[in-house]
Amino acid sequence: MHLTRLRIRHFRSLHECDWQPVDGLNVLTGPNGIGKTSFLEAIYFLSSGKSFRPGGIQNLITHGQSSLSVFAESHQVGNQYRLGVSKDKQGVVKARLQDLTLKGITPISLLLPVVAIHSCSYHFVDSGPETKRRFLDWLTFHVKPDHLLLWKKYRYLLKQANALLKQGNNTFTDRHFWYEQLAESGTALDAQRRAVFELLVEECGSRWNSGLLKQTGIKLHYCSGWKSEKELLGELLHQDERHVRYGAITVGPHRMDVRIMAGPGEARKILSRGQKKLLAIEMYLTQVQMIYESTGRWPVVCLDDLDAELDQEHLQYVFNQFETIDTQVFASSLHPEVIANHFPVHKESRVFHVKHDLIRDS
Ligand SMILES: Nc1ncnc2c1ncn2[C@@H]1O[C@H](COP(=O)(O)OP(=O)(O)O)[C@@H](O)[C@H]1O
Ligand SMILES: [Mg+2]
Repeated sequence: MHLTRLRIRHFRSLHECDWQPVDGLNVLTGPNGIGKTSFLEAIYFLSSGKSFRPGGIQNLITHGQSSLSVFAESHQVGNQYRLGVSKDKQGVVKARLQDLTLKGITPISLLLPVVAIHSCSYHFVDSGPETKRRFLDWLTFHVKPDHLLLWKKYRYLLKQANALLKQGNNTFTDRHFWYEQLAESGTALDAQRRAVFELLVEECGSRWNSGLLKQTGIKLHYCSGWKSEKELLGELLHQDERHVRYGAITVGPHRMDVRIMAGPGEARKILSRGQKKLLAIEMYLTQVQMIYESTGRWPVVCLDDLDAELDQEHLQYVFNQFETIDTQVFASSLHPEVIANHFPVHKESRVFHVKHDLIRDS
């Protein structure tokens, strides 16, 4: 998917903006605080209805305004699309595709996957299970779209079971009913995640067998969220007393994690800061490749301040990968020439200067 036009209204400091990016690399430059990251965030918002920065919708809408919107025209193997997403202060999302009003944003998320690599992504190796779960679930959603239904069902059952446990006055028969439901739904969710995880390991492995991380012995381990040698129902029953004591379900796919090892120890304790960042970027670029392989659609890639995070060698190494990854790229940078010089020369690239809410060709 390539965006040919982007219209942004009331998104952080971007009041009104109409922009026509190029198909290859779009470098956004300008002084600190001018809105470079906000542009990337707006593209991410169009795909997900969310931000990649902390803070709720109140912080995303321009102060003093009641709603924001992002609209795009795009093309994908000969087809033209018009997509738009708006959100108001109450959090109500409206999504439109062509001239249709959608019930939710999912069709846009599937059509326009956006992989954003930003300040939080660089800490992927050090981050907790929630980030790892989000990473794998997002990938699974694109590789196997019915994943969302499975995940929503499990989350609903978990909420019900936790509410029952918190309430206190329940019997073993009551709890057993919910354990059975959770086990059935959780086992299906786990199987789907595992299948995508295996593909991820294969794809990452072929990257890490060559390249700058070759000597580090990196391996990924899937942790299901319960003792993997046991069936989920057996483990839920085994932990019954704990559930009653804590007033919550303590085992299941909501506790899933991905452990990252580097040789004999945990990567977070062994790798240098630079290696961790590179590993994180590699994992996100693997997502890009995998989504293309399973859907035939290249996700849009947003890179926030990448040149501030990596040295020249690592930067070149990352940009070399765009020889084969045929995505549209949006990159924010204080030093646009550094980014543009590392990008494959035969691909189109242009530098845009962000000036308040205007965007200008350099
Ligand atoms: N809800 C908002 N309304 C108006 N301005 C905002 C809002 N949220 C953030 N800002 C401002 O928008 C700018 C966004 O900066 P950012 O996109 O991070 O800039 P850059 O990446 O160029 O450094 C900052 O100056 C910030 O103060
Ligand atoms: Mg920024």
